[in-house]
Amino acid sequence: MSFTVAIDGPAAAGKGTISRAVAAHFGFAHLDTGLLYRAVGARMLDGLDPVEAAETLDPADLDRDDLRRPEVAQAASKVAAITQVRAALVDFQRAFAARAGGAVLDGRDIGTVICPEAAAKLFVTASDTVRAERRYRELAEKGIETTFDEVLAEMRERDARDSERAAAPLKPAGDAVILDTSQLSIDQAVAAAIAEIDRRRAGQG
Ligand code: CDP
Ligand code: CDP
Repeated sequence: MSFTVAIDGPAAAGKGTISRAVAAHFGFAHLDTGLLYRAVGARMLDGLDPVEAAETLDPADLDRDDLRRPEVAQAASKVAAITQVRAALVDFQRAFAARAGGAVLDGRDIGTVICPEAAAKLFVTASDTVRAERRYRELAEKGIETTFDEVLAEMRERDARDSERAAAPLKPAGDAVILDTSQLSIDQAVAAAIAEIDRRRAGQG
């Protein structure tokens, strides 16, 4: 039987970290849907038309080493506002969500557009300064040269574009549980997510 967990939220809120832990805990497959948009954005920076880049996206494109770079994040959020780009990526995401054994998908529109019938929906968020601090540390550890102020500005610009676009904007689904991780350790955030999914599983059984 399929069981889909939708995890949405703004940049660096902890979606990926929570999704990976949830997937490991329940034995679900995990798809970071941001990687799809980052890969399309990276191909646009290579000179491709973004719609063509989305329609011809190859699994190998998701393994590119440059996908975590801030300029690729910006390009991702630009291509993500194009309706035809989003449309080209829907089937792959829905097929992933429906796989037997359960799946967790994280992104911006999983609970609202991709999987409105998801069994559990979390909207993970945190203050923008906390998120920028976390992302700044991550980039520094990867050896990507930047400053806290640059990261904060990049994230605010991207969050605003993601929230204000007409196509599948970033917003919590009406039935999503909001998880603010500003004051939570990773273990606390993961425990809260697992508790919510357990509640949903009990309700379904
Ligand atoms: O996927 P998303 O962009 O939402 O965030 P992430 O990559 O999972 O998390 C961004 C950074 O915040 C990672 O380095 C996490 O280790 C860290 N972090 C967290 O996710 N949750 C906390 N409660 C504290 C730190
Ligand atoms: O890790 P972080 O939260 O910073 O970004 P990401 O999840 O890798 O997403 C990069 C960009 O892709 C976002 O800023 C969105 O514009 C776009 N995206 C989207 O529109 N819909 C999704 N389901 C996932 C990502």
